[in-house]
Amino acid sequence: MTKKIAVLPGDGIGPEIIAEAVKVLESLRAGGLDIEMNEAPVGGAGYEASGKPLPDDTLALAKESDAILLGAVGGHQWESLDISVRPEKGLLGLRAELELFSNLRPAILYKQLADASTLKPEVVAGLDIMIVRELTGGIYFGQPRGVRTLDNGEKQGFNTLVYAESEIERIGHSAFKIAMKRGKKLCSVDKANVLECTELWREVMIRVSKDYPEVELSHMYVDNAAMQLVRAPKQFDVMVTTNMFGDILSDCAAMLTGSIGMLPSASLDANGKGMYEPIHGSAPDIAGQNVANPLATILSVAMMLRYSLNETELANRIESAVEKVLDQGLRTADILSDSTSDGMQKVSTSEMGDAVVAALT
Ligand code: IPM
Ligand code: MG
Repeated sequence: MTKKIAVLPGDGIGPEIIAEAVKVLESLRAGGLDIEMNEAPVGGAGYEASGKPLPDDTLALAKESDAILLGAVGGHQWESLDISVRPEKGLLGLRAELELFSNLRPAILYKQLADASTLKPEVVAGLDIMIVRELTGGIYFGQPRGVRTLDNGEKQGFNTLVYAESEIERIGHSAFKIAMKRGKKLCSVDKANVLECTELWREVMIRVSKDYPEVELSHMYVDNAAMQLVRAPKQFDVMVTTNMFGDILSDCAAMLTGSIGMLPSASLDANGKGMYEPIHGSAPDIAGQNVANPLATILSVAMMLRYSLNETELANRIESAVEKVLDQGLRTADILSDSTSDGMQKVSTSEMGDAVVAALT
């Protein structure tokens, strides 16, 4: 049966990088992959089209599709809008409406890019971490929230960190299952020394671990985890953490690999339906210049094939094609380090996409 993919380019560099990922999908379709792609606006583009960052038609399309490919949302021109209609709400709305609670953010260092990291090559060589971030709960969604005026006239901002046991359990199972397929080491990151909510998180993780006796579970406070990620990142295999801690730690882990422009992500529901997006943002400063790195988005397509479309072999082929273009010395600006520019060829967004398609066929 034809698989439906919702394509949501979004804002900033979103449309440029999505165009390259679509080229890759078109080429797979020409080779026999049975897919249908439908495009819709989200984020700032959604707001411009309909007054809502997540237009009703876009949500309906996302709901009826088997998988969603998203570029990025946000831009300076929408920063002064009310928070309820800012582009980011489009993304958060999709995550919540589709119950995409399990966010997989791999941080892999491609050997060809060892010099692109700001850390010493021996610290990051061979790095392969999977961060599993809870994506539909915690302080991002907790109620009550807002800004209120106190009796003395002073304003007070407030947000709520909440997790029900069932929410912790399901992300726990997600993470343990992934750990079983990898190095069987899971580090749960919390702040159990200060926050009751994450004390419960730790308790539930220990409970869930009983179902996975082969996995070695450890716990780390988030401040230490941030430090360990830049001190000795290779101690980690799989990490599982809350929505906000995962947001922060995944950016940190991304930089270990040299460029945030290389890292894909998958956001999955309980049935394997997913939304796939690069973890970098909309980068308005370089939008429209054809210089952004499309590889994170192309690698997100590989994750989509693996996790939602059950096409492992095609996923492997895309990942090999990306390795191949890196071997050929092709580099977008973000992964072209001065020290290694010898023999490297600086390419644009579209040239990089074309090179991946060529390497695929
Ligand atoms: C991410 C982003 C989003 C988040 C923003 C754009 C809402 O930073 O996907 O990591 O905070 O989750
Ligand atoms: Mg983030």
